[in-house]
Amino acid sequence: MNVTKRNIGVLGAGTWGMALARMLCVSGNDVQVWSAIEKEIDSLSSTRVHPNLPGMKVPDELRFTKSIEEVCKDKDVLLFAVPSVFVRSTAAKARPYVADDQIIVDVAKGIEPDTLYTMTEILADELGKEGGPKGIRLVALSGPTHAEEVAVDLPTTIVSASPDMEAAKFVQEVFSNSVMRVYTNEDIKGVELSGAMKNVIALGVGISTGLGYGDNARAALITRGIAEIARLGVAMGCNVHTFAGLAGIGDLIVTATSMHSRNNRAGILIGKGETPENAVKEVGMVVEGMNALPAALELAEQYQVDMPIVQTVNAIVNKGMGAAEAVRTLMDRDPKNELK
Ligand SMILES: NC(=O)c1ccc[n+]([C@@H]2O[C@H](COP(=O)([O-])OP(=O)(O)OC[C@H]3O[C@@H](n4cnc5c(N)ncnc54)[C@H](O)[C@@H]3O)[C@@H](O)[C@H]2O)c1
Repeated sequence: MNVTKRNIGVLGAGTWGMALARMLCVSGNDVQVWSAIEKEIDSLSSTRVHPNLPGMKVPDELRFTKSIEEVCKDKDVLLFAVPSVFVRSTAAKARPYVADDQIIVDVAKGIEPDTLYTMTEILADELGKEGGPKGIRLVALSGPTHAEEVAVDLPTTIVSASPDMEAAKFVQEVFSNSVMRVYTNEDIKGVELSGAMKNVIALGVGISTGLGYGDNARAALITRGIAEIARLGVAMGCNVHTFAGLAGIGDLIVTATSMHSRNNRAGILIGKGETPENAVKEVGMVVEGMNALPAALELAEQYQVDMPIVQTVNAIVNKGMGAAEAVRTLMDRDPKNELK
């Protein structure tokens, strides 16, 4: 368990950044949080409450800063916890202040549409540019983890993934405590791909629920959904076992079955007849499943992989196809020899 006090900088003060910052603080680390939104820092440091985590008290010892230089300075670990769309811009701002060989942990989930990079690939690219550190050690931390539960110390498991096993184990040690159990995996690509793609499937599960379909359809979408993600992952060189683990099926289950998930919630609204645009507005936050759709389709095409659920979700979200009609099309496909 974590007995050594570490200095940790958290970039991003959303629900996940703040839930992890509090956890790391109460487990004895020195934690400092930065946000791109100055007003957010003012509010968090004075109220000691996050608006989306009202039951969580921010410990007095947790420090805040508006300076990205300060949050990066003298830290054993830098935790990137901004939504996926802001990972590149945040890394660009942090670049001059990241130390050589610093351990960088990413918890954002997504694929960049233009480059098809995972989040740690974006970090490697952006921090590797001129003026940045000579080298960095990247770890993806991902699994079935709702911020709302970690915020109130409910038992949680997560995967620390990196080809650099020493870095993965260091992060395992830092994040482990009596309510957080951390596993390691060398297959960072499989872990990150799972985290990005499960949001698309969760959106589909939400749509199915919104249409009034039952547990049978939900179980089918989850099971066939992970089959699609695994099929793509294996074609991309990932380890098939990753998809059967916490960061794979584990994360898909937690996302597709919980009202904490904004992808699930947005899907339910769409299934009930709301337009995708209105569903996003109503959920009020980034719906990463929608953002991941173009990249998912592009990867499927590039690797010649069949992803019928992803394509159906895309037809509903981006092509205006009615949800019930889209599901009928999915059910009526020619039976073929898909992944067992
Ligand atoms: N919430 C969870 O339970 C959870 C769990 C695991 C992983 N994640 C992943 O963590 C990431 C963050 O999720 P979240 O739930 O904290 O999101 P969130 O919507 O709560 O994050 C909003 C935060 O993003 C930051 N932000 C806003 N605009 C910004 C900008 N222009 N530049 C930089 N930062 C900006 C601000 O700090 C803001 O509070 C996502 O990729 C998500 O998939 C979330």
